[in-house]
Amino acid sequence: MTGAELSGVPETALWTLRNRAEEALRDDSDFTDKEAIRLYKALAGEDFERFGPPSQIHALRAMVIDEIVAQYLATHPAGPVVALGEGLQTTYWRLGEPEAAWFSLDLPDMVEAQQRLLPAAPGITRLPYSVLDRSWFDRVPSGPAVITAEGLFMYLPPAEIPGLIADLAAHFPGGILLYDSVPRFFSALAMRGRIRLSDNYTAPPMPTSQSPRQARRLPARIPGVIAARDLIPPPGRGPWASPLRRRTVNLPIIRSIRPSLTLLHFAA
Ligand SMILES: C[S@@+](CC[C@H](N)C(=O)[O-])C[C@H]1O[C@@H](n2cnc3c(N)ncnc32)[C@H](O)[C@@H]1O
Repeated sequence: MTGAELSGVPETALWTLRNRAEEALRDDSDFTDKEAIRLYKALAGEDFERFGPPSQIHALRAMVIDEIVAQYLATHPAGPVVALGEGLQTTYWRLGEPEAAWFSLDLPDMVEAQQRLLPAAPGITRLPYSVLDRSWFDRVPSGPAVITAEGLFMYLPPAEIPGLIADLAAHFPGGILLYDSVPRFFSALAMRGRIRLSDNYTAPPMPTSQSPRQARRLPARIPGVIAARDLIPPPGRGPWASPLRRRTVNLPIIRSIRPSLTLLHFAA
């Protein structure tokens, strides 16, 4: 089985899947993800080497988001969970196939791949839309929800982001949104085709960046956003877990060059 039908930004979902599966396969990692490992092994025909050496970054991102989604579901067991640009995420299985309504949105080619590669899950409604095409809102009930966008916003045009967040806040009042961002220098490198993971793979352009400081200003700038929090992933292992790294993560210089994870709260 291969995932080879994917190209452009959808192909990056194979990169993040590989990183989560490799992390879950390690004995010295706290990250577990049986379904990602199953899928990774099943895609034996895929050239995952093109994504260079594995990184724990996508597993650590997933661990933070899992925790917030699980907390949300503890008080809102019916959900809904709205996973934007969900790609080949296996969050639903990591969280134990929750009873909640689960809406998974991605581009049509990716939804076709999800249907081919992931286990059937009657609890998941798959929505083959661009997140920028607001007609998908007609398919998801309005009201509080936990919305995730893992590895998505950096690939969208920056001018679209404030309007998208405002529309999410209007459709999901009382809800929360979790998303990650790359720093400005990284976006600039990606725009010049300089994020080369190997001789055979260059990451696609990432036109949107956001620093923790910019995230903090969102409640004043975007209607319907009432609070913004910068989330710090767990330490991870090896050099990532160094106490020095933990101590410096919020120094101004480090905050301007590190990737960030943002939790927004929407007005009820
Ligand atoms: C880096 S991958 C991340 C996939 C998954 N969220 C993860 O963390 O493994 C980016 C994902 O965003 C999706 N995507 C890109 N542009 C999109 C758009 N305009 N609307 C919806 N999904 C989009 C891609 O198809 C892909 O699945």
